[in-house]
Amino acid sequence: MHYLSSKEELLNLPFMDGDLDLEKRVEDLLDRLTLDEKIKLSAGRWDACSVPAIKRLGIKSFKMTDGSHGVGGIGLIGTRFRKNTYFSVPICRAATWNPDSVQEYGRAVAEEVRSHGFHMNLAPGINIIRSPLGGRNFEYFSEDPYHNKVMAVAQVKGVQSQRIAACVKHFVCNNQDTNRFRVNAIVSERALQEIYLPAFEAAVREANAWSIMACYNKVNGFHGCENKDLLRKRLMKEWGFHGFVVSDWFATKNPTNTEGCLDAGLTLEMPIPIKYRRRRIKRAIKEGFVSEETFNDNVKRLLRVMFLVGMFDDGSKLPQGCRNTPEHQALAREIAEEGIVLLKNEDHLLPLDITTLKTIAVLGPNANKKHSFGGGSSCVRALYEITPLQGLKDKCRGKAEIIKDPAVADVAIIFAGLRHKLHQDSEFSDRRSLALPKKQVELINKTVNRNPRTIIVLINGGPVTMEWLENVPAVVEAWYPGMEGGHAIANVLFGDANPSGKLPVTFPKELSSSPAHVSKRTFPGRENVYYDEGIFVGYRHFDAQGIEPLFPFGFGLSYTTFDITNLQVSKKQMRAGEVVTVSVDVQNTGKVTGAEVVQLYIQDVKASIERPPKELKGFSKIKLAPHETKTVTFKIGERGLSFYDERDRCWQVEKGAFNVLIGNSSRDIMVQEEIEFVG
Ligand code: BGC
Repeated sequence: MHYLSSKEELLNLPFMDGDLDLEKRVEDLLDRLTLDEKIKLSAGRWDACSVPAIKRLGIKSFKMTDGSHGVGGIGLIGTRFRKNTYFSVPICRAATWNPDSVQEYGRAVAEEVRSHGFHMNLAPGINIIRSPLGGRNFEYFSEDPYHNKVMAVAQVKGVQSQRIAACVKHFVCNNQDTNRFRVNAIVSERALQEIYLPAFEAAVREANAWSIMACYNKVNGFHGCENKDLLRKRLMKEWGFHGFVVSDWFATKNPTNTEGCLDAGLTLEMPIPIKYRRRRIKRAIKEGFVSEETFNDNVKRLLRVMFLVGMFDDGSKLPQGCRNTPEHQALAREIAEEGIVLLKNEDHLLPLDITTLKTIAVLGPNANKKHSFGGGSSCVRALYEITPLQGLKDKCRGKAEIIKDPAVADVAIIFAGLRHKLHQDSEFSDRRSLALPKKQVELINKTVNRNPRTIIVLINGGPVTMEWLENVPAVVEAWYPGMEGGHAIANVLFGDANPSGKLPVTFPKELSSSPAHVSKRTFPGRENVYYDEGIFVGYRHFDAQGIEPLFPFGFGLSYTTFDITNLQVSKKQMRAGEVVTVSVDVQNTGKVTGAEVVQLYIQDVKASIERPPKELKGFSKIKLAPHETKTVTFKIGERGLSFYDERDRCWQVEKGAFNVLIGNSSRDIMVQEEIEFVG
């Protein structure tokens, strides 16, 4: 081993030369590392969020932080619990249906990550919301693979624009927290291809994600960290992934052995060496279970990302990062406003008119509850958190009085929902029921009896049932809206912001109508959990079975109305390799400015195998002034019409008719046109 005599000598080494080709720098650095040093770089160290430094070669410690909605979790230890911006949770950001907002979030959170001197954000979590009971649903985006993928790509691009690595997790089928360390997801190839993998694939192919986190659970018999089929074969060989795979924290405890993980392509074991203890790696190589070449490839992947995040570059030339800026706080508020979904608004009770209201009764367990520091690894230590009550006080100051008695108030608002605690919206467990806690249901029923003008605002991370829905005139889904949530909610309730969020998940009327809840074997399973529903996840199932949901996927109201008309297709007949352009006119037919999410679904009219009645293949969010009309266009390629053929192991489009369905929710199709695929 050669010790460098001075800093100058180090600076003159080829890998320090910023003008040199990236791969040459990586190779040069790899060549200089001893086997022991490479082993050292293969696992985390005591603080649970970093990789040891190799001082001899000027390799600093590579540092990671959690954070699905701000810097949090494991990274907080490394930041000595410094405070951060608390943004709205992922499901709320997904409900914006606005990739630009999600990308902006990615940029902002990366700035916060960098301001702490960290290099990687352990996010986005893009597991499909398979069951409405999933404890971590609030940390995920969607039940639909297309919607999920658009959000994932946007966030990864935003994060990596700041030269911070995104770590896309949890690869894959970590769709429940019950028994998450051991459960074996038995899932068909078609469901993997059509539902569970697309967002991961797009994060790699379209956004060039620099890291992937392997899941705890098994997929078809193999744990995420030793799943060669998923990691080496699909991720690396098929999708061309150049980054590195990191284990979920302690996810290497259960896989079989060291060589299995090395061979599969796991670069980094976190948080501490278990399978990747020095002795074990050395033995695996020495005894020929794994080649040194394979091990080198694993290490090289981490080195590559170290270069990409700028660890060997002049710091003054890197993005500087910042946190808790007014800009981030304003963004947190804007995204929350955009993600809030108006579910019911009878007789235009909302928006409230601040000029005529005198008294507002504010009730419910979430009225003054702070949520930032909860939920497991995604918790954020927020600089501040405006609760709904605080937001309303700020809005009503000097204009209307906040009181407690609904019977004498002009209007009552109940902040109901859930919390980040075990068996509610939290890592480590799943929910036990879809209903709101009994006391809340009682409060809602009692309050409506005393004041029919009662508005329910839900603060929670996923679907809930609403036996009380008929009795209340207005319902708002606000999710966990972040540190500016109280202001965002007040702005929506009083019409300063016109709601434009849409549900990224189906809200079922009852749990048993959900596809994953047919039996215990399908959720939560025991040793195995059987994905018997196959590709019929979320609205695909509700549509196919003709089940009326409580609120459908893609649904959300506005304070204005929109018309979608004049569907045009560039050609009625599509040949292989061609693209059809589809356009519609969208008009704001109401009195206030608002934004609509135009959604395009495809239906295969007659297929040789079972296909969902419709599948989302495009969407676009568009803002319109009253009476304004704009044209929205979409492109449909062959892939948009295809399904995964398990027999031939490839994507197929069958000749014949397809319906192009366009509307503003999966159950509100306003225009449609038939096209024919002629092959
Ligand atoms: C979670 C990951 C997280 C990691 C580090 C695990 O328990 O599943 O999402 O990134 O901890 O905190």
